[in-house]
Amino acid sequence: MDRYGTNLARIRFRLREVGLAYTLYLALQRLSSRRFFQCQRMFIIALPIDAAACDVPPHPCIREATRDETSRIAAIGGPVADVEEHFDRGDRCWVFERDGMLLACDWIRHSAQDRIGWIILGKSSDEIWSAGILVDRTQRGQGIAPQLRAQVIRECARSGVRRMLGFIDTPNRNSVRALDRVGYRPLGILFYLRIFGFGVIRSGKPWRWGFWSERSPVRLSMCDIADPSCLRLWSAITDEHIAR
Ligand SMILES: CC(C)(COP(=O)(O)OP(=O)(O)OC[C@H]1O[C@@H](n2cnc3c(N)ncnc32)[C@H](O)[C@@H]1OP(=O)(O)O)[C@@H](O)C(=O)NCCC(=O)NCCS
Repeated sequence: MDRYGTNLARIRFRLREVGLAYTLYLALQRLSSRRFFQCQRMFIIALPIDAAACDVPPHPCIREATRDETSRIAAIGGPVADVEEHFDRGDRCWVFERDGMLLACDWIRHSAQDRIGWIILGKSSDEIWSAGILVDRTQRGQGIAPQLRAQVIRECARSGVRRMLGFIDTPNRNSVRALDRVGYRPLGILFYLRIFGFGVIRSGKPWRWGFWSERSPVRLSMCDIADPSCLRLWSAITDEHIAR
C-alpha cells in the first residue's frame, strides 16, 4: 500500500474507533505547532480511594515495569522519548502482560503537581495524578484498561493515597467510558487556548488570560476547576454507551 493508502487506512481506523469529533481534534493537535498554537479541552477527573481497594485480588497479568523495559513499553504505542521522560520525572509504570507481550501501560505521577506545559495543577498530599493509560491498538475494547487501572488503584490504596486525579480530552469518549467503569467522575472542565504565548483559560471560574510560559506558568488548584455542571456532558457520553 502506498503512503496515501496507508494514511487513508489509518484515518478510517481512527474514525471507527474514536469517532469524527476526536479524529478532527487529534488532527488539529498534530498539525499545530505546540510552540505557537495550543488548544485543549479536558475533563479533570477524580476517583475517591477507600481502604476496600486494598482487598482487590492481584491480577496475574499486571505488574510494575522497570526502566530496563523502556523499548518494550514504547512498542505499545508511543515514542521511546516519551517513556524516558516519564521515568526521568519519577513516574511509575504498571503494565498488562500476556503470553510475554506487553499489551498496555498505565503511568502514575508521584510529584506534588502535574504540569500541562505552562499550566500547573496542584494537589494535596494524599492525592495522586494518573499520567496516561495506553492499550495496544489491536487489544482495545476488551476491558484491559479498567482491569489495569483497578490494580494501580489497589497499589495506591496500600500506600495511603485517598484520591486519584487525572485528565481526559473531552472528545475522547473511549477513555471516558473506560474510566467511568472504574468509578471516576469529572470535577470540572479545563479549556485553554494559547497563541504566540498569549493564553486564555476557562475552568470552573471565569475566563482568565495572560502571557504564560513554561518558565512562568499559571497555577490552578482543584477549587479553581470544580464545576458540577460538567457532569451533564460526562453523562451524555456514558449514557450514549448504555443506549447502544
Ligand atoms: C482509552 C483506552 C485506554 C481504553 O482502553 P480499553 O482497554 O480499550 O478500554 P475498554 O475495553 O473499557 O473500552 C472502552 C470503550 O472504548 C471502545 N473501544 C475502544 N477501542 C475500540 C476498538 N478498537 N474497537 C471498538 N471499540 C473500541 C469500547 O467499545 C468501549 O466502549 P463501550 O463501553 O461503549 O463498549 C484505549 O482506547 C487507548 O489506549 N486509547 C488511546 C490512548 C488514550 O486515549 N488514553 C487515554 C488518555 S486519558
